Amino acid sequence: MAKIPHRLYLSEEQIPKQWYNLRADMKEQPDPLLNPATLKPVTIDDLKPVFCEELAKQELDGTTRYIDIPEEVQEMYKVYRPSPLIRAYNLEKALDTPAKIYYKFEGNNTSGSHKLNSAIAQAYYAKKEGLTSVTTETGAGQWGTALSEACSYFGLDLTVYMVKGSYIQKPFRKAVIQTFGGNVIASPSDTTVAGRKILAENPNTTGSLGCAISEAVETATTTPNCRYVLGSVLNQVLLHQSIIGLETKIAMEMLGEYPDVVIGCAGGGSNLGGLIGPFMQDKLTGKANPRIVAVEPASCPSLTRGKYAYDFCDTGKMTPMARMYTLGSGFIPSANHAGGLRYHGMSPILSKLYHDGYMEAVSYEQTKVFEAATLFAKKETILPAPESAHAIKGAIDEALKCKETGEAKTILFGLTGTGYFDMTAYESFMNKTMTDYIPTDEDLEKGFASLPKID
Ligand SMILES: Cc1ncc(COP(=O)(O)O)c(C=O)c1O
Repeated sequence: MAKIPHRLYLSEEQIPKQWYNLRADMKEQPDPLLNPATLKPVTIDDLKPVFCEELAKQELDGTTRYIDIPEEVQEMYKVYRPSPLIRAYNLEKALDTPAKIYYKFEGNNTSGSHKLNSAIAQAYYAKKEGLTSVTTETGAGQWGTALSEACSYFGLDLTVYMVKGSYIQKPFRKAVIQTFGGNVIASPSDTTVAGRKILAENPNTTGSLGCAISEAVETATTTPNCRYVLGSVLNQVLLHQSIIGLETKIAMEMLGEYPDVVIGCAGGGSNLGGLIGPFMQDKLTGKANPRIVAVEPASCPSLTRGKYAYDFCDTGKMTPMARMYTLGSGFIPSANHAGGLRYHGMSPILSKLYHDGYMEAVSYEQTKVFEAATLFAKKETILPAPESAHAIKGAIDEALKCKETGEAKTILFGLTGTGYFDMTAYESFMNKTMTDYIPTDEDLEKGFASLPKID
């Protein structure tokens, strides 16, 4: 049999023309988003002041299995897709494992991560609706970069509230967003009521995604012809990210492979939800039974130590409430270098699947994650984003288990992005100043105290 190639690229014609909506195959739907004023499920009319109408429809659509990707979005996808499926031969050799390790590499575009898949879709729908601007938050800076690229392409103004910790740590990430035309504000800021309130309560905070979301939503709803867009958590974002899993499944089929285990890092759940889509479909419909593993930071353990409860998606309690695994919207995680994984909640779709036993979750301390990241960089010649390195660590641990048992399992993981703007983090790992703060039960209790009392 011919050796499996190092990298497999699909042809342009093989790029899927429809997204896959995982909810259509779920035995039970995730609980609906609630309007915090009425505690009733949100309607399109509730969502329209915040989101573009088409995206609001996608958010609430739990039944349409496949949704056409608009032609303009397909054309932009072709600029950087398909992304390669890579066999990690060198890493396998270094680990001396019988396992076969594959990764889907989404960092091979100018924005540096998978976030572009949803940014293009969301900017397209905003422009089509006749909006002139959008607002958003960014943690690691990857989503802000991707959206800034997409907005400049479609001709929309953009304001990005960037979590202060990342804003300070990654000045060049900010400069990239600005180069594409985005206006970047460190969050919490004094430009919004929500930001001023958070600053008054905690003047030295390094911010969080939850704070930045509050500021972006407030600005969107108080600016004419402007809406808010979000890079993770929401059902619509998982829908757009399904392009990752759909391409992966085709590529694996071409190789005659099927994963025993699928692994992804989980911040708000968009890359993981996208990667696992078609494999979870097989699991839900009884065609196959791969293990699905979410990897999160020990400093922000929403799945592994959070509660499955209704909560706000932001710190300022302005958004609809979602039933999800959460640490409480008031929880501010310690300054972990994986800014994109510092979110208090998790996608309601993934939360439901995890709650119903279709998924597993593990958490790692950041020093262990960076050990894995540097080994991977040396062997596979890609410098991973700290977020993505969580999935690498998960895959390495699975491969090492195979070494012990002698099983030649097929491991698939999502490599969501590159870490070239994260060199402060790599430096602190190399000079051993990196620390691991794991929240105590007491810390978590403080976050849980901020949960709305409705369950
Ligand atoms: C490179 C990268 N990977 C993963 C994530 C986590 O987000 P999600 O869980 O939505 O995929 C982020 C978020 O910023 C990111 O920048």
